[in-house]
Amino acid sequence: MASKPFTHGHIERNVTILAVLSLLVVTIGGIVEIAPLFWIDSTIEKVDGVRPYTPLELEGRNIYIREGCYSCHSQMIRPFRDETERYGHYSLAAESMYDHPFQWGSKRTGPDLARVGGRYSDEWHVQHLKNPRSVVPESIMPGYSFLASRELEVGDVSRDLRALSRTGVPYSEASIAKANDDLLAQADPSRDAGDLAKRYPKAQIRDFDGDPSQVTEMDALVAYIQMLGTQVDFKAAAAQEQMK
Ligand code: HEC
Repeated sequence: MASKPFTHGHIERNVTILAVLSLLVVTIGGIVEIAPLFWIDSTIEKVDGVRPYTPLELEGRNIYIREGCYSCHSQMIRPFRDETERYGHYSLAAESMYDHPFQWGSKRTGPDLARVGGRYSDEWHVQHLKNPRSVVPESIMPGYSFLASRELEVGDVSRDLRALSRTGVPYSEASIAKANDDLLAQADPSRDAGDLAKRYPKAQIRDFDGDPSQVTEMDALVAYIQMLGTQVDFKAAAAQEQMK
């Protein structure tokens, strides 16, 4: 059989040609995927409602990281039916755009927490964090009762905001200047919250841990948990979609 000089067979049998051509194909594919990233400003589509964390939520998030909650909990609902039926709308990239570092996680010893905000009362969370087995008898989650008695250190939250703003989180100068006041005002109803709610739309302002006498680490953590997944109004978005 007179073989043609350059067929698929030739390529597959000649390791050098195969390697060179494979490299060529991978290079073209790579350029097509990577090159556009240099020309677009953001790879994340903005979504209404997503805002930077309030100072109190941010402190709660720092405690979440400090205590290693991410080692048992993910914060990313994947777009599969079994996940969306259990946890709600799948996570959007925009919902973690102000997370540095993100908390997607890869381990689910406990449930995903991306939309746990508003699912339980504050009292439930406080009780659960103090002693998980008192509300979920079969739970293997450790207790964190010490959070309720530890006063929240206010010291350097404005520096936190400043650092995040350098990474692109849009905290205004006013937000940074007011960070300490905002932090305490969100968890202490006896203080004047000022325009906290204007700076942080939908911020929940109340005493979270049931102890109005001091602002504790528990206040911060519960404020953070109760905000998770509540920024984007998916019902309104769905209604708008129907109107079109
Ligand atoms: C050793 C693993 C482990 C660690 C660490 C852990 N959890 Fe959990 N968590 C679980 C398990 C298991 C459950 C499910 C049983 C239950 O509700 O207690 C759970 C449940 C929860 C729930 C209820 C979720 C739901 O949808 O019912 C919340 C909220 C929660 N954890 C928050 C936290 C926070 C905050 C921390 C860190 C301070 C933390 N967990 C640390 C294992 C863990």
